[in-house]
Amino acid sequence: MDQLWTEKYRPKKLEDVINQKHIVERLKAWVKAKTLPNMLFAGPPGVGKTTVALCLAYELFGEYWKENFQETNASDERGIDVVRGRIKEFAQIKPLGSDFKIIFLDESDALTPEAQQALRRTMERFSGVCRFILSCNYSSRLIEPIQSRTAVFRFKELADEHVAEYMNRIVKGEEIKVSENGVKTIAEVSKGDLRLATNVLQATAVSGKEVSKESVYDVVSKARPEDIKDMLSFALNGKFVDARKKLYDMLIKQGLSGEDIIKEIHSQVFDLDVTEEKKLKLLEHIGEFEFRLNQGGSPEIQIEALLAQFLKK
Ligand SMILES: Nc1ncnc2c1ncn2[C@@H]1O[C@H](COP(=O)(O)OP(=O)(O)OP(=O)(O)O)[C@@H](O)[C@H]1O
Ligand SMILES: [Mg+2]
Repeated sequence: MDQLWTEKYRPKKLEDVINQKHIVERLKAWVKAKTLPNMLFAGPPGVGKTTVALCLAYELFGEYWKENFQETNASDERGIDVVRGRIKEFAQIKPLGSDFKIIFLDESDALTPEAQQALRRTMERFSGVCRFILSCNYSSRLIEPIQSRTAVFRFKELADEHVAEYMNRIVKGEEIKVSENGVKTIAEVSKGDLRLATNVLQATAVSGKEVSKESVYDVVSKARPEDIKDMLSFALNGKFVDARKKLYDMLIKQGLSGEDIIKEIHSQVFDLDVTEEKKLKLLEHIGEFEFRLNQGGSPEIQIEALLAQFLKK
């Protein structure tokens, strides 16, 4: 698979983060002091939460950032015990060239209130050697004791002009041909989500056409039924690698959203050549994964997990 532009163009320095100046300024002061508070990063998808956390790790830890930074997704690990286990394991190894490590917990608002209580105790237990950055879409879904013990950073939504600024970095870097309204259309369809915007741009460019209003709309169109049919039949026949490739093609090359794909899967379950009982089970799973996606779960992870259910006898 070609390199993903969402990774290739992810800023490495706080300086290069777009339109979150209020946050960047506050964080630079912490970097200078070589320490951090526990923090809560709240905001819509694709506006820079993970990026800023990574920049902090690069700037604080330099060459040792990998040793001192752990990213865990609260919703893709099964339950808080796994999360705690991972955190504990990581926290027990001494930081390298620093007094502390950073634990970045994505989608922390997906944790149940009980799991959040457990997380709070874990945070306290390791407060000496670890700083926690909890990332979420809605800070109101976090229990009060966590909100009150973290410095809250609210990430702003990005406007069309910010999307355009970022798209232009990539357009220059990749020497892509764009027509006047191409970038504008990407800004419209991505609604301030830079991950989505980047995936759409890459998908359009991969198609070989000039990036224009028409070619962008071609790319963001709905999931094609035959692609979904192929993907499901791969999964049902135990060809997980092929199913996964199909999924990634749709997410990356076609720039489809997880929701688009799940919707089309849902409408095809009825026609599958499996028992009625299995269909019912699958429908249940689809409902569950659609909910997780709506809660901000990552589409790659959630749909792969859903495909795994198709694989089961
Ligand atoms: N403010 C920003 N400045 C520069 N690039 C950004 C910014 N926000 C997002 N991006 C780009 O968009 C992609 C996704 O960004 P990131 O992972 O930081 O999003 P996020 O806010 O953590 O989203 P989510 O809530 O879905 O986890 C990356 O490729 C990143 O480079
Ligand atoms: Mg993130």
